[in-house]
Amino acid sequence: MTDLFRRLPASCWSSIDGGLALEGVSVSAIAAEVGTPFYLYSAKRLRENYRALADALAPIGVSVHYAMKACGNRAVVSILAEEGAGADIVSGGELTRALAAGIPAARVVFSGVGKTDVEIAQALRAGVQQLNAESYEELWRIDEIARGLGVVAEVALRVNPDVDAETHAKITTGKKDNKFGVDADRLGRLDNELKAMANVRLVGLAVHIGSQILSTRPFERAYARMGELVRDLRSRGHDITRLDLGGGFGIPYQNELAPTPADLARTIAATVGDLGLELAVEPGRSIVADAGVLVSRVEFVKDGGHIQFAVVDAGMNDLVRPAMYDSHHDIVPVRLPQAGGAEVEYDVVGPICESSDTFVKRRKLPKLAAGDLVVMATAGAYGASMASTYNARALVPEVLVDAGRFAVVRRRVSLEEQLGWESLPTWG
Ligand code: LLP
Repeated sequence: MTDLFRRLPASCWSSIDGGLALEGVSVSAIAAEVGTPFYLYSAKRLRENYRALADALAPIGVSVHYAMKACGNRAVVSILAEEGAGADIVSGGELTRALAAGIPAARVVFSGVGKTDVEIAQALRAGVQQLNAESYEELWRIDEIARGLGVVAEVALRVNPDVDAETHAKITTGKKDNKFGVDADRLGRLDNELKAMANVRLVGLAVHIGSQILSTRPFERAYARMGELVRDLRSRGHDITRLDLGGGFGIPYQNELAPTPADLARTIAATVGDLGLELAVEPGRSIVADAGVLVSRVEFVKDGGHIQFAVVDAGMNDLVRPAMYDSHHDIVPVRLPQAGGAEVEYDVVGPICESSDTFVKRRKLPKLAAGDLVVMATAGAYGASMASTYNARALVPEVLVDAGRFAVVRRRVSLEEQLGWESLPTWG
């Protein structure tokens, strides 16, 4: 396949009768049955991504907790559960999803800066492996709720190491100004305060400095800092046995060079490998991003004079990343272009009533016509999970392909159904 297809993993994509096929299943055949737009996932690619990371990290004793927020679909998560993944969750809803997908509570870690009482109690009752607390205030809250339930909560304290992740500002989490974690310079309070918390057992530390990080340098800095903090806490008598290194492993959306699983393993081994800790990571994007695409149909090719607009039937409500983070997704026609065929520069836009509903600007693509199907590549992470019904649109369906078959794993949620969620007040 040409450069146009560089973001569709060659292990899963091929061409059948001149059209794109995923694991041998024709995309246009799925579109004919499901309608567009829809997300399309490859089970094979999910397994490949998970295994590549888990196999590289296993020799140094690092377990993988999949960050559910990247794509929480039950069918997707259950594939990872079968592979042995744990889960990183950030809400009670994600706990419900993780358990429904078959991830045991004992392999679930609960992160998040604003856990409610109800969520903390839900997690403690379910018996999650660990709560990652993000503040002293939260530690006290966990202690109180655990006491009420008659349990001792195993807690890791999320630390803010003040390291620049060198990524998009909206997905940077490890700088002093970010709301996440406890300032690395403020761990002294633990010595006294923990003594007063009979129902909290501090078992470890956690860190997560951001997402889509393309260099190992920020990881090195953050992990090394965590190593120092573990040594320091141990020297003050704290029994620190676990270190959660977070996620954030970047991937190529265009031609970026991203750290490989082997690079990450080396970085971890070199910084915190000698501390005798139970280590864990929380990747989301690097597991699911290139295992998913958004399939959409061109509604119109609008001649705007100086700009040609390809108006597709997917909108920013279905894939918000370009509008929100200026992200790049390769756009590939499902009907493969003829070699040497005409190319046109397009703005590919959705139907939503906002100018930010633009997937790409001035991108050279094979000539498109109304009715053509296109896929937006590398959309498996933070695609469907961030979708909304804005502009009163149906919630986008999700389809999974596995071993030559496909299944709708979330059906399109129609407006009639959505209206059923609403009610008129009964006061008259
Ligand atoms: N652990 C914690 C505590 C997190 O907050 C996150 C992501 C992860 C793990 C997983 O990070 P990953 O491996 O996926 O980079 N919506 C944005 C990304 C937001 C990431 C939020 N936290 C996007 O579409 O780029």
